[in-house]
Amino acid sequence: MKIGILTGGGDCPGLNAVIRAVVRKGYFHYGDQFVGFLEGWRGVLENKTMTLDLSAVGGILPRGGTILRTSRTNPAKRENGLDTCIATLKKNSLDALIAIGGDDTLSVAKKLHDKGVSVVGVPKTIDNDLAGTDYTFGFDTAVQIATEAIDRVHTTAEAHNRVMIVEVMGRDAGWIAIHSGIAGGADVILIPEQPFDIDDIAETIRQRHARGRYFSIIVVAEGARFSSNNQSLIADAPKDEFGHSRLGGVATTLAQEVEKRTGIETRTVILGHVQRGGSPSAFDRVLATRYGLGAIEMVHRGEFGRMAALRGNKIVSVPIADAIAKNRTVDQEMMNVAEGILEKLPVERQPQSA
Ligand code: F6P
Repeated sequence: MKIGILTGGGDCPGLNAVIRAVVRKGYFHYGDQFVGFLEGWRGVLENKTMTLDLSAVGGILPRGGTILRTSRTNPAKRENGLDTCIATLKKNSLDALIAIGGDDTLSVAKKLHDKGVSVVGVPKTIDNDLAGTDYTFGFDTAVQIATEAIDRVHTTAEAHNRVMIVEVMGRDAGWIAIHSGIAGGADVILIPEQPFDIDDIAETIRQRHARGRYFSIIVVAEGARFSSNNQSLIADAPKDEFGHSRLGGVATTLAQEVEKRTGIETRTVILGHVQRGGSPSAFDRVLATRYGLGAIEMVHRGEFGRMAALRGNKIVSVPIADAIAKNRTVDQEMMNVAEGILEKLPVERQPQSA
């Protein structure tokens, strides 16, 4: 078969491992040929391609980023964009397309499948918020990076009697914040799923310091929201082609408010794209490889309009429609883990029951 591959949306450690697994399995077991589309859906719109053969995927397993590069291009927002994509696929005589991406990239894959394109999806995002799968690759690496940062911030916070706020990625879901916050022993973890009251945060910090602790660590997801208006801490951020706000910087607002209320010097670390860069963890290399193998098998079984997914410890296939229907947010079980080890507000600050 002749198969196209693209990587779309934000990059993610492990993308190259998926590409490598697809190409190696396809070449050695099925005699497939591959065309790589460059820069996500932009490459399909503009027919920007590269040959993906064994030598192209040699040595890429430990490399971050993606040899196909990526973009947040949305063909559905361009005039005749989807039809232009279909024309490109025909021009390249492709039998199938493998789209590696998050909900945005996969929503375009679904639209193309609805128009008759033979497409298979692979779930990707460091945010781990894609429905239909238990874990996305890249998440483990991001959590590892964030945890190392929190560990480092701990010692300097302690040395200076400071509150340190570590901001991690997570637009709609706080998976990175809650995992790294637990792993790094944070005192406060703020996630988009649980809008927060700044006075409660300040009170928690004040009480902790009154008990003799002289430093505190707050981990905040970039998409955290105020409970007063359920709004993000970043107002009027510019939007991408899929309508998502460009986040980053909530820690700065939070630090000002915490310092104002507690009188304790408060500093911030915004990890940003450091979490997406560099070499994937061993776990992500293996998971990405399994997704790649799952995807090429799905192509050969003719399971189109579906996505390779991890359920328990098995790679299965699920409808792309299920994966993009909603965000997979942090579940109650994980919140209970965090609540189990975080410091509680003193009784007098707890909400009064009627
Ligand atoms: O979707 C993954 C993600 O890393 C989000 O956590 C973050 O808000 C966004 O991408 C940043 O995207 P960009 O690199 O386009 O600014």
